[in-house]
Amino acid sequence: MPFATPSSRQPSTASSKPLVLRDADSLRAALRRLRRGGARLALVPTMGNLHAGHLELVRLAAQCADEVVVSIFVNPLQFGPGEDFDRYPRTLDADLEALAGLGRPLQVFAPGTAVLYPDGPELASQVQVGGLSDILCGASRPGHFTGVATVVLKLLNLVQPEVAVFGRKDYQQLQVIRRMVRDLDVPVAIEAGATVREADGLALSSRNRYLNQAERRQAPRLYRVLGELAAAMKAGEGDLAALEQRGRETLIAAGMRPDYVSIRCQRDLRVPGAEDRDLVVLAAARLGETRLIDNLEFQRPR
Ligand code: PAF
Repeated sequence: MPFATPSSRQPSTASSKPLVLRDADSLRAALRRLRRGGARLALVPTMGNLHAGHLELVRLAAQCADEVVVSIFVNPLQFGPGEDFDRYPRTLDADLEALAGLGRPLQVFAPGTAVLYPDGPELASQVQVGGLSDILCGASRPGHFTGVATVVLKLLNLVQPEVAVFGRKDYQQLQVIRRMVRDLDVPVAIEAGATVREADGLALSSRNRYLNQAERRQAPRLYRVLGELAAAMKAGEGDLAALEQRGRETLIAAGMRPDYVSIRCQRDLRVPGAEDRDLVVLAAARLGETRLIDNLEFQRPR
């Protein structure tokens, strides 16, 4: 399958400094100005440390709406104890430069923690998306998707965009957010951007920078395994459990510690029945200290 091209790596000739908004009042004032002209808004929520994958999401957002708001907020509520909240890369200046390189006016909402959680994250009302949040990544990261859904709903309420854009790389997150929007009647259309990959297939991720050289060489194995399992199913292999087990063994042989390798239905991440055709194979695995995730959608033949 062709990889989406990380086109942001090409030098940009245009430059347009984004407007940076630090609190809810300045965000609202900027949004009022934009809305006066009748603009449709798209929101791209991020945790910063922007790479070519994020920039593709911003480009997609710009195709869906007149004005784009990019939020940059490392959300403490979605990190568990012992996870990488403290060392998560915070690179606002470089992020603003990368966004300026897109050559179009953008609003950047970059609040501090006290702006979004004035009483502390642990005291916030929280959004629990039942079922979907507890499987796969949710099983090894309890509370993670509640943290994601909560901050995304807050951002949607603050910005009130017509469209919000998320990456397919975080596939379970995308489905959790779609479900939340459906269940809670949030008036926004959710658009999904393609995963951007390195030439060797590794999905771009802010966490790739944690990999040492040897790990970086091994990391593309994750996506290759997903491709092998999807190909086997397309060729008629039907024993899901055996395929998943084979995937796990291949990852272990490549020096990874898989959390899961799982074949699911695309829409709701259910275990597929014999009739289900639109499938996705998802995996999470640790390589050294880094947790990698990836997925591949495919159609099972009749
Ligand atoms: O995908 C991310 O970067 C985050 O989970 C998100 C959606 C910005 C919420 O913090």
